[in-house]
Amino acid sequence: MNALAQDSKKAAERVGLGADTIIIEGGKPLTGQVEVRGAKNLVTKAMVASLLADTPSVLKDVPAIADVNVVSGMLGAYGVQVSRDEDGTVHLDPANVERAHFAQIDALAGESRIPILFCGPLLHRLGEALIPDLGGCRIGNRPINFHMDALRAFGAVVDKSYEGIRLTAPNGLKGANIELPYPSVGATEQVLLTGVLAEGTTELRNAAIEPEIMDLIAVLQKMGAIISVEPNRVIFIEGVDHLIGYQHRAMFDRNEAASWASAALATRGDIFVLGARQPDLLTFLNVYRRVGGAFDVQEDGIRFWHPGGELNAVEVETDVHPGFMTDWQQPLIVALTQANGRSLVHETVYENRFGFTSALVEMGAKIEVVNGGLATPTRRVARRPLEQTAIIDGPTPLHGADIEIPDLRGGFSHLIAALSAKGTSRISNLGLIGRGYEHFVDKLAGVGADFRLED
Ligand code: EPU
Repeated sequence: MNALAQDSKKAAERVGLGADTIIIEGGKPLTGQVEVRGAKNLVTKAMVASLLADTPSVLKDVPAIADVNVVSGMLGAYGVQVSRDEDGTVHLDPANVERAHFAQIDALAGESRIPILFCGPLLHRLGEALIPDLGGCRIGNRPINFHMDALRAFGAVVDKSYEGIRLTAPNGLKGANIELPYPSVGATEQVLLTGVLAEGTTELRNAAIEPEIMDLIAVLQKMGAIISVEPNRVIFIEGVDHLIGYQHRAMFDRNEAASWASAALATRGDIFVLGARQPDLLTFLNVYRRVGGAFDVQEDGIRFWHPGGELNAVEVETDVHPGFMTDWQQPLIVALTQANGRSLVHETVYENRFGFTSALVEMGAKIEVVNGGLATPTRRVARRPLEQTAIIDGPTPLHGADIEIPDLRGGFSHLIAALSAKGTSRISNLGLIGRGYEHFVDKLAGVGADFRLED
């Protein structure tokens, strides 16, 4: 079994998915309702934040996904008592934080990238942190240099050992002046989770300001932190002596909402996404409208549908917030294969996030990926050296194929492609989707998808 299939199997086991392959009969519009709950990219961080407190925390709307399961396991290994109610409320009690056995955390860290965010909290609680090799989606190099440079600025000493990275703070952690080379989501969270209990003030420049980061700041403020978000990506953190537990309802998952919206468009369907909220999807909704998708913002969610007629080709550039998220391009590209004319999608955040398009080509799509990206008269910002452009010529009818899912978002787009294609598709590594999409098999059934699972 290759490494990807192993990752998938582990994720499938974590969410109780008995099968790793799905057989899809495509060509039927998806219609109905799906509910999206707490954002993967917030809940996992908010759970880590519970380590900083000396009293218990309660997080609501936590989805049942593999990444949450991995973080629960990591927290458990460090002595945090984690329990989960039926309705997705998670209780986290950090009263007895202790050192973990290396083997225990090593087994878990390979399945996610979140363990890197344990560094600051563990340094505060235990005076040391040992971070084994990290897992997560294989969508590029995914270095951790910004994280390590920031931790060093706080006074941490970083040693590489054969087990992974070992951090200590012989003189404690002190507020720091940090400028990120790029507004990295993870590195910004690292600075927040470390700065809140560091002695003195931290100034972070070129910070990421994604809504999930704002929600994490809200969590930390509930815990007693003093964090001010200033104009121009500057964040000030005034260190405090101690933090208490929080009660918080996680913001909804924007990526999941955009995925189902794209599924409605690509299959010429009509899906109401319960829990989706307009303010955090403004950029996505603009593009959806330009492509020719229809949406209706309601009080408790957003309805997305294909209004009939032809879809329009568009040019989109992924970017940090408030730009078009890198996680939105994969499902949207499936719909763009059905648009009239040439679409251009410039990926500027990760250097390898178009791998999933080769399966779409096998299914009949016309997509060419240009490494280094394309300069076009409409581009607003300077190109990044790592970027790539996908050139999509449509419309092209899609037909069923045998596909191996490469990563979380690419995998969901393969499901959408198979659902909109004529004929039968066989898709393996289904477990990878369980990393970030809660109950996706039940939701597919709920919107009328025609499929069966296979071991
Ligand atoms: N980067 C570095 N050095 C670092 C950190 C990042 O060079 O130390 C680079 C990355 O290689 C990448 C860019 O900076 O080219 C942006 O990475 P960032 O740190 O912003 O991403 P991340 O924190 O690793 C989170 C989400 C991703 C999402 C990105 C962008 C989580 C767990 N992951 O990743 O979500 O795509 O932000 O918004 O929050 C997903 O959900 O499928 C997913 C991959």
